[in-house]
Amino acid sequence: MIPDFILKVQTYPNMPTLTKEKHSSHRDIFELVKDVPAKPYFEDKKHSLILFNNDCFDVLPKLPENSIDMIFADPPYFLSNGGFTCHAGKQVSVNKGKWDVSKGKEENYLFTLRWLRECQRVLTPNGTIWVSGTAHIIFAVGYAMQDLNYKILNDIAWFKVNPPPNLSCRYFTHSTETVIWAAKNKDSKHYFNYELMKEMNNNKQMLSLWSIKAPGTDEKKYGKHPTQKPLQLLDRIVLASTRPGDIVLDPFSGSGTTGIAALKERRQFIGIELEKEYLETSLKRLKDEIHSKNG
Ligand SMILES: C[S@@+](CC[C@H](N)C(=O)[O-])C[C@H]1O[C@@H](n2cnc3c(N)ncnc32)[C@H](O)[C@@H]1O
Repeated sequence: MIPDFILKVQTYPNMPTLTKEKHSSHRDIFELVKDVPAKPYFEDKKHSLILFNNDCFDVLPKLPENSIDMIFADPPYFLSNGGFTCHAGKQVSVNKGKWDVSKGKEENYLFTLRWLRECQRVLTPNGTIWVSGTAHIIFAVGYAMQDLNYKILNDIAWFKVNPPPNLSCRYFTHSTETVIWAAKNKDSKHYFNYELMKEMNNNKQMLSLWSIKAPGTDEKKYGKHPTQKPLQLLDRIVLASTRPGDIVLDPFSGSGTTGIAALKERRQFIGIELEKEYLETSLKRLKDEIHSKNG
């Protein structure tokens, strides 16, 4: 049973198309996770949210196949190898955490292939996956997707409008990330809310170039995740590729940005994250969003 919270008709004045959409999913995330041996770190039946403090390889294989409508994955980029970047005008180490240290080209590829295979198994036949990354990992992701016979739908160039300067002055300033959008396989009839995307783009077709600022201090008030994605990016992804009530999963959920977007747009959400510290931040962000909706 999908709770009333999800089924309520939406009232976004600037997004009239949403009110016309049907709720597609009749599955319930609490049924889906019944074979996962780990106890959820957090669950909220009213708002259809589940967070696991686990390795995604311990949770994904326990979910039924063909059960998830959309996956957003922001995996380790494997770029924490002693380099430097610029933050707030200062030179700082680029090391993001143990989880982001490269294991070498082959190991990184096998890791990528492994989680992408698990994700493909759980996606519904018409489900889609979005994967973000920089040059450190995105080519491995694209290659693995081809190996697994995903159907690549788009490669979105996310232009970070306000990137930090390049301190070495030996490269162009890094200012984009790629987000690959792919369907489960070549037979998928994927969902795309073309009309809404057009409406959100002044009634012109939405391009695959998205100009979106990196998250500001307001999105980081409950804790700083080193690779936090902007809510606007996830909001667009959720609205473009899911219907209200659909099931969204994030295997590397970090500070919970995908969960916030899912909650905001009344989708069900399963998040998996290794580090407790980031789950604490996610919880505070989710509770804030629930509070702002008055429960
Ligand atoms: C690039 S970050 C995701 C950031 C997230 N998109 C956000 O907006 O906050 C990747 C996250 O994956 C987590 N992680 C790494 N390996 C994992 C694994 N095997 N299972 C679950 N989480 C993992 C890391 O702790 C990190 O928080």
